[in-house]
Amino acid sequence: MKDQAEGLRKLVAKKERASRIIAVTSGKGGVGKTNIAVNLALALCQMNQRVALLDVDLGLANADIVLGITPTANLGHVIRGEKTLREVIVEGPLGLKILSGGSGVADLANLNGWRLEVFIKSLEQLNREFDFVILDTGAGIHRNVLSFVLAASEVLVVTTPEPTAITDAYGLLKVIHGQNPQAKVRLVVNMAKSPNEAEAVADKLNSVLLEYVKWEVEYIGYILQESQIAKAVSDQQPVLLAFPSAMSSRSLKRIAGVLAGEKVQIAPLGIKGFFSKVYDFLSV
Ligand SMILES: Nc1ncnc2c1ncn2[C@@H]1O[C@H](COP(=O)(O)OP(=O)(O)OP(=O)(O)O)[C@@H](O)[C@H]1O
Ligand SMILES: [Mg+2]
Repeated sequence: MKDQAEGLRKLVAKKERASRIIAVTSGKGGVGKTNIAVNLALALCQMNQRVALLDVDLGLANADIVLGITPTANLGHVIRGEKTLREVIVEGPLGLKILSGGSGVADLANLNGWRLEVFIKSLEQLNREFDFVILDTGAGIHRNVLSFVLAASEVLVVTTPEPTAITDAYGLLKVIHGQNPQAKVRLVVNMAKSPNEAEAVADKLNSVLLEYVKWEVEYIGYILQESQIAKAVSDQQPVLLAFPSAMSSRSLKRIAGVLAGEKVQIAPLGIKGFFSKVYDFLSV
């Protein structure tokens, strides 16, 4: 296992253009991660960024449902050597590329030898093709979820104003910062009743983080509770396309604008570097 990890690191160390990998995650489930991941990915496409959406929610992979798309193959097929990466990438609206993780993502840990090498090499091409890879993850601090979150150099943690969601967000933020202090971590408050309520949530979280973790998360913005989102979801349409002038669509565009406009301090690891980290986490 050790030799293999070494060989992998060499493959990954080759200098090249790297995509920014942003994991969208949360402590508590059902707070709006999938909606945010899909719509942020689309908002970035509208800003002429080349974006891939990678759904690694091992439980209920549902980014495809929000987009009304049914991928027939997933990353599991690539990992098992049954399909190439190209064959499993589906084109969504605005040129967004969708890659479904499916339950096969956990198989990553079982990859070895030439198959692992082929997989990592195929990711090389993707680095050149995408500016951003947005990851829609599951909730919580289970190892399968955390492997993806901790491997990403940028993380968006989503919470709602609900006390249990805030408590779970705190627990998750503490783990992320503890285990990957270099990560650029940002907070989105979803389903707020007002901008003030959202800001109060961010302040509350940060005062506890400051006291116990000596660190603050960067508050990047809020999305209000809005009926258009539920309507769009039931129509299997992303809100950004179904209701472009809804408040939530404007908030999502604003957050995407901050992400796209920011100079990233940390050198992005790229898709290859990301997967090799996921592999390291999953195979210990
Ligand atoms: N700002 C909002 N206003 C109103 N409803 C919302 C908002 N954001 C999300 N929702 C609703 O909340 C539900 C859950 O959203 P979503 O599936 O994106 O959450 P999730 O965090 O991905 O859930 P899971 O943890 O199960 O993956 C959806 O049915 C959606 O309609
Ligand atoms: Mg989800």
